[in-house]
Amino acid sequence: MELGFIHSIFFGEDTLMRILHIVGFIIAVGGVASIDFLLLVFHFKPELGKSLAKVFPIFSGQISLGFILLSLTGIPLILSRPWLSENFYFQLKFFFVLAVFLNGIFITYYAGPRFAKLAPKWTERTAEIKRYEMISAVSGVISVTGWWGAVIVSLLVVHGVV
Ligand code: HEM
Repeated sequence: MELGFIHSIFFGEDTLMRILHIVGFIIAVGGVASIDFLLLVFHFKPELGKSLAKVFPIFSGQISLGFILLSLTGIPLILSRPWLSENFYFQLKFFFVLAVFLNGIFITYYAGPRFAKLAPKWTERTAEIKRYEMISAVSGVISVTGWWGAVIVSLLVVHGVV
């Protein structure tokens, strides 16, 4: 029986690390896309606020798990490809990664818990809610740009486009 492909998964060209990196990417970006879609729905159905405040921390855990897997697998990958650290586009990727990491801390410790407090009275449109909306819009732009930027730049580099 041909077992060469099993050998290559574990020992060839960091294949296992690359697969796990992509698994981390699916887990994390899947969570990000789900939250973003729910926020879009929330814009048209603000009465969903209370329910969303309950599910967001679950997606947030999924994103953290994916991010940890991306970091744990990304480190050995970058160590075996030292030339990538000098690639401008890969440096741009690390800028995006840092941005989503810091933004994630902001969401976990400030924006998320605050949303849980404000969500039940969202339809009242108080000044506090409007101010929160402005701050979280900035965080949302950082999230979308950072996550999708990291994915697109990585794919362009890995496929030799840039
Ligand atoms: C926001 C977090 C991240 C995302 C969304 C992300 C996404 C990706 C994607 C989609 C690829 C292409 C995989 C392929 O087609 O083989 C990739 C490759 C790569 N990533 Fe990440 N990554 C992230 C974080 C990291 C971190 C933290 C590191 C290093 C510490 C890293 C190092 C690498 C390396 C070295 C490659 C190239 C692997 C190769 O040459 O096959 N990534 N990443």
